[in-house]
Amino acid sequence: MSQLLEVNEATMRFGGLVALNAVSFSIGRGEVLAVIGPNGAGKSTLFNVVTGVYRPTSGHVRFDGIEITGHPSHQVVARGVGRTFQTSRLFSDLSVLDNVIIGMHTRTKTGVLGALFLPGASRREMAACVEKAELLLKASSGELFEQRHRPAGTLAQADRRRLEIARALASEPKLLLLDEPSVGMDEVETDALIADIRRLRTERPELSVILIEHDMRVVEAFPDHVMCVDYGSKIAEGDFATVKSDPRVQEAYLGKAAVHA
Ligand SMILES: Nc1ncnc2c1ncn2[C@@H]1O[C@H](COP(=O)(O)OP(=O)(O)O)[C@@H](O)[C@H]1O
Ligand SMILES: [Mg+2]
Repeated sequence: MSQLLEVNEATMRFGGLVALNAVSFSIGRGEVLAVIGPNGAGKSTLFNVVTGVYRPTSGHVRFDGIEITGHPSHQVVARGVGRTFQTSRLFSDLSVLDNVIIGMHTRTKTGVLGALFLPGASRREMAACVEKAELLLKASSGELFEQRHRPAGTLAQADRRRLEIARALASEPKLLLLDEPSVGMDEVETDALIADIRRLRTERPELSVILIEHDMRVVEAFPDHVMCVDYGSKIAEGDFATVKSDPRVQEAYLGKAAVHA
C-alpha cells in the first residue's frame, strides 16, 4: 500500500530565501515522524506547504493517494490533515467546548455557524457536535472536560495545548501535524504531553503524526523515524540514534542548541 503522505522535492522560496530546498520524505499509516532542526530551518514552512497555506515553488505533495499540491487549506483539512500551530490559535473568548466544535466545521453539513442560527436538522446536527466534542475532551483529559464551559483563554498552558490537539482531532484527521507542541512547557508538562501522544497512538493506531520538536526528550520518546532539516534541506533521516550521531546534525546544532539526550 502506498504511503499516507509523500512529499517529493518540495522547494519553497520567499524572494531570494530558500526556506525549503527539494525536501522529499514520506510517512506511512500509523507512523510517527519527528522533524528536528535549528530555528529557521524550514520546519514550519514544511507544514505550511503540506497543508496548502503555501503552494510550493516546485515539487509535489501527495496525500492518501491524491495530489494535493497547493490545494487550499480547508480542502486539505477535509481530506484528513489536522494541525496545530506553533503559536496558539485558539479563540480565547469562546468556551473550550466551542473551540473543539469549530474544529468540526469541515465535517458538518450545514457548518457550525449555520447550525447556530438554523432550526430543525441543523440544530440536531449541532447537538451531535456537542456530544462529539464532549467525548473528545473527555478522552483528552478529565480536567479539560470539567472546564469545557470556561473561556479557552483562562486555561493553563498545558491544557491549552491539549485543547488545540483536541480541536485538530475534531476534523477526524488521518494525519496530525503538531508544530512544537512542547514549547513553553516545563518537564512535568512535557512528560504529560508525551503520555498524551502515546495514548493517542494506542487509541487511534491508524493515525499518523508528524511532530516538529526542539525538545529531544520528546523526540527520544518517538524514536523510530526522525528527520533533520537545516537551511531548508533534509540533512539526515533514520531512527533517533542514527540521526543524533550524524556529524551533519551535530554541526547544525553546534552553537545553536545542543542535541542532548
Ligand atoms: N511567509 C514568509 N515570508 C518570508 N520568509 C518566510 C516566511 N515564512 C518563513 N520564512 C522564512 O523561512 C525560513 C524558515 O522558517 P520556518 O519554516 O518558520 O523555520 P522553523 O519552523 O524551522 O523555525 C526562515 O528564514 C523564515 O524567516
Ligand atoms: Mg517553526
